[in-house]
Amino acid sequence: MRIFPTIAELCARLGNERAVAFVPTMGNLHEGHLNLVRMAREHGDCVVASIFVNPLQFGPSEDFDKYPRTLEVDCAKLEGLVDVVFAPSVNEMYPAQQTIFIELPPVANELCGAARPGHFRGMATVVLKLLNIVQPQVALFGKKDCQQLHLIRQLVAQLNLPVRVIGGETVRAADGLALSSRNQYLSATERSEAIFLYQMLQGMKLGILQGERDFERLRQQAVEALETRGWLVDYVAIRNQPDLQPVSPARDDLTQRELVILAAARLGNTRLLDNVEVCLD
Ligand code: PAF
Repeated sequence: MRIFPTIAELCARLGNERAVAFVPTMGNLHEGHLNLVRMAREHGDCVVASIFVNPLQFGPSEDFDKYPRTLEVDCAKLEGLVDVVFAPSVNEMYPAQQTIFIELPPVANELCGAARPGHFRGMATVVLKLLNIVQPQVALFGKKDCQQLHLIRQLVAQLNLPVRVIGGETVRAADGLALSSRNQYLSATERSEAIFLYQMLQGMKLGILQGERDFERLRQQAVEALETRGWLVDYVAIRNQPDLQPVSPARDDLTQRELVILAAARLGNTRLLDNVEVCLD
């Protein structure tokens, strides 16, 4: 495994590689990332992971400064799993002020985009830069960040990028909590409460599978349940897959339909995010 901090060195190494599978990350790697990296091996002769905490996707009051940077430990975890680690500095990725950004569809301003203005614009811009630099045949992203994955699929399709995007299943702790680099911000008490987000989503899924079609009531009950337990809710939403558009049982035919239930909520200072897929057939 080789670690490259510069674009020039990375490109020199990747020059002759034809089948590159790429896993972009912000580091502080957990089993969710490692799962993507293992999947990547099935799709490329050369597996590349990037580690870059992208300032463009953090708002001014967000955790860019305190986001865990654990390059040495991350590289130890990647040893034997990837061929190349690309770990550029901010200056390497943004040698001059970035004044060109990706303009995203309106869904980018909903859900996580409503609570984090500009987040997806910064995310999409760095993902496009990374794809242009690495030029992979396949790129892998986690399904936990469902809205991010949707927007990346749109970016790739609408800009005709020559890369196949693959989503990896969310990896969970034994109690069901979705693995996330931000879980480590949780206190012990918050950590035991954190599993309620997934339990709540599972409860909503069960309700829908058992025939509940008053989605607004289901959604409001979930928000109330979270708030009663001390969560600060950004959103709970039931959306169509794969377009993430709102779903209305009164209007839409809900047979043979893929839905996704998404939620983001804060426990103390930690914002947690999760989703579950629901297949109606
Ligand atoms: O999901 C992440 O870790 C980041 O948003 C990504 C895709 C690496 C872009 O910075």
